[in-house]
Amino acid sequence: MGLSAQKITDRVYWVGAIDWAIRDFHGYSTEHGSTYNAYLILADKVTLIDTVKGPFKDEMIARIASVVDPGNIDYIISNHSEKDHSGALPSVIAQVKPEKVFASVMGAKALKDHFHFDYEIVALKDGDILSLGNVNLKFLETRMLHWPDSMITYLIEERLLFSQDGFGMHLATSERFADEIDQTLLRQQGAKYYANILMPYSTLVLKLLERIKQLNIPIEIIAPDHGPIWRKGIGQILSWYQEWAEQNPRRKVVIVFDTMWQSTDIMARAIADGVMREGVEVKVMRLRANDRSDVMTEVLDSAGILVGSPTLNNGIFPTVADMLAYMKGLKPKNKIGAAFGSYGWSGEAVHLITDELRAMGVELPVEPLKVKFVPDEAMVNSCGQLGAQIARLIKESSRQ
Ligand code: FEO
Repeated sequence: MGLSAQKITDRVYWVGAIDWAIRDFHGYSTEHGSTYNAYLILADKVTLIDTVKGPFKDEMIARIASVVDPGNIDYIISNHSEKDHSGALPSVIAQVKPEKVFASVMGAKALKDHFHFDYEIVALKDGDILSLGNVNLKFLETRMLHWPDSMITYLIEERLLFSQDGFGMHLATSERFADEIDQTLLRQQGAKYYANILMPYSTLVLKLLERIKQLNIPIEIIAPDHGPIWRKGIGQILSWYQEWAEQNPRRKVVIVFDTMWQSTDIMARAIADGVMREGVEVKVMRLRANDRSDVMTEVLDSAGILVGSPTLNNGIFPTVADMLAYMKGLKPKNKIGAAFGSYGWSGEAVHLITDELRAMGVELPVEPLKVKFVPDEAMVNSCGQLGAQIARLIKESSRQ
């Protein structure tokens, strides 16, 4: 395969893979595809930072071969053992026979648990420095950002941070650098990645941002494991991360629901109208028309979350139950909300949703709303009032 590496600095090359076709990344919709970034450092000790998803190994090897014989690789650093970055590792080890493979303490264990190989992984501790001869790497553990094994690697002489999943996004592009790509798209896809991967660990993200400041290490380039590389204005992605990790909500309501015979749909649209009447932004997202990961992107900076479902067989409609399970795991903060929905004879769904929202820590300042079979005019008005009430509460609490 005659593929090319892309030069990042005089010594560092991007040698990853572009997955133009992926549309579902373990349950996260990837409408723009993704990249699995791996990086080659042409130091005295030739070093590969991360690998790629298993099926993309030949693409990575071909890019490496465009600048150096892959057999010349001395060291491999595994920053993260999730298989989109380690899937190719066993066969790369077999092919290039590196002198050493390094990972964090937890990473060394996780790689063994994935691949059950005898290969000895050298464990690195937080703050360790590894000499590559003419340049040095410093390692920072970033446990639970977003796996226990996660670490980031700083190439001291190039002021370059290999940030693993952090500051990344699922975005397949021909351009390798963020400054070559539309900023609106970057913010949207960066927020989607944050909301769906990192949001539960926001406290740790804030601590990491503070630690980077305290360490006072100059960073000129951030090279993540997905999406574009940041070489100009890295302050932009750092400030977005600060904003997302703080989870300060804007004056915005997300209405997420599903419907069987359009009664819950009528309710959702009437609630939205009430929100709009108060001049507050609203996103109306019917499941089966919107992916759960897109809903979470909108939830990231919303102040209100209203969840609607018809009652089906004494329970929540399956797509709404799926959404609630997914949302609960991502631990959104600083929200107010309510449940709503239609029913025929038992009407459990609204109560079950209310319990789920309460368990997530969502404030529930208004009564849930349920309607038997089809909403009449009075009920449509009640839905509008519920939306307006939520919007007023958001405005009064100065949520921006
Ligand atoms: Fe891109 Fe957590 O793997």
